[in-house]
Amino acid sequence: MDGKSAIKWNPFAPNYFNDPYAIYAQCRTSNPIQQDSFGNVILFKYRDIAPILDSEDFEVSSLSTYFASKESYIFKNNSQCPFLAKATNKWLMYLNGESHRKLRIALGKVLFSYDFDQLIQESVQETIFYFKHHKKLDLVDFSKHFIYQILSQFIGLKDFTSLDKVVEFSNLAARSQDLFVSKQMYLKMNECFIEGVGLFAESNFKAKLKKELKGLEYEEEDYYSILAVTLMAFFETSKDNLSYSIYLLLSSPKLIKFVLEADNKAIKLLTEESIRFVSPLQFTVRINKKVVIIQGRQYKPGTRFILGIASANRDEEIFEAPDEIIFDRKVNPHLAFGAGSHLCLGALIARKEMEIGLKPIVEFLQKFEVDTLEPLQWANQIFMRTLQSAMIKLK
Ligand code: HEM
Repeated sequence: MDGKSAIKWNPFAPNYFNDPYAIYAQCRTSNPIQQDSFGNVILFKYRDIAPILDSEDFEVSSLSTYFASKESYIFKNNSQCPFLAKATNKWLMYLNGESHRKLRIALGKVLFSYDFDQLIQESVQETIFYFKHHKKLDLVDFSKHFIYQILSQFIGLKDFTSLDKVVEFSNLAARSQDLFVSKQMYLKMNECFIEGVGLFAESNFKAKLKKELKGLEYEEEDYYSILAVTLMAFFETSKDNLSYSIYLLLSSPKLIKFVLEADNKAIKLLTEESIRFVSPLQFTVRINKKVVIIQGRQYKPGTRFILGIASANRDEEIFEAPDEIIFDRKVNPHLAFGAGSHLCLGALIARKEMEIGLKPIVEFLQKFEVDTLEPLQWANQIFMRTLQSAMIKLK
């Protein structure tokens, strides 16, 4: 073993959550294919990750099956009713084959029956109005408010003032997919999934979904599972993407000027670049169905590959000056929305949030500046990179 290959990805390293990119860069250069003590293979380079996302020789692992296998341990000596496996049973990103294909078509039809242009325009105006008199504000709260406005108008939430409940539900649902989650945290998630049943109202979203899935064997709990994953996939990623994107824009007078003067085409390029740079979902997982060879190494079927998509999005082999936001980057084949059969179903909506929202948001927030006395607070999460606080104050 040479000195270089000793570099190991370690999410417990000091400062990791503030800046995981420094470690990703070292891994890409010195040790781009790593195996941990559980046999997981962790990949950091674009050239290794992109083909896997596109390949039919790999499939996703089932989160629900994982929970089913762990429930006897998680709920030992505990009176809670196990609900983790049921609540995650129909999460699209953890389904394979026909069940994935059919649900993807149905959910896609239902999602795109809504007029997101209008919902986003209205929500951005409402959010600006809400924060109009603030002298100081947290961009995370601003983004939560904005995304909640959109979400609550189509999915059907029982209590229109339930933002705090949605925030907690969405975050715990996202964390259920993370690595190294404690038993206590799983119990908290379980409780939240049980209570979450009461979050959703009978809505036309659910009615449309039922119509699209008619004839297939879906039970009431399955519809809850689909609503839960839609809420999490919509809310958590969009909010994480926006809060950091807006923070980055407000940190740069050059970028503020660019947004204020940009036409639609320029905003689209910036949106793409910002999503590449922020990459809210930092990792995903695939399992190989057959023997595969990667960079000359052979892996037996059933190997679990942890794909560093955020690292791939900063790979200098693909992106010139990867650690800079180049607002007019022309070629931008980033993997922030994944690729292949599980390509993000909401990518179009996430893009619209920025394409429609960025200009009015920056016009409104340009009178604020980053509050240097209150540094960014990042959550201790590995898969989903989440800002907890990003304070700005009036100039
Ligand atoms: C910037 C915002 C977003 C980012 C970065 C993002 C990222 C991703 C990624 C990387 C995947 C693929 C995961 C994998 O291959 O394992 C994915 C899947 C998915 N996303 Fe998003 N997402 C965003 C917004 C949204 C929104 C607004 C929705 C709307 C509901 C959504 C719904 C979904 C769904 C349903 C899937 C599963 C697709 C499938 O497995 O077929 N996402 N997302």
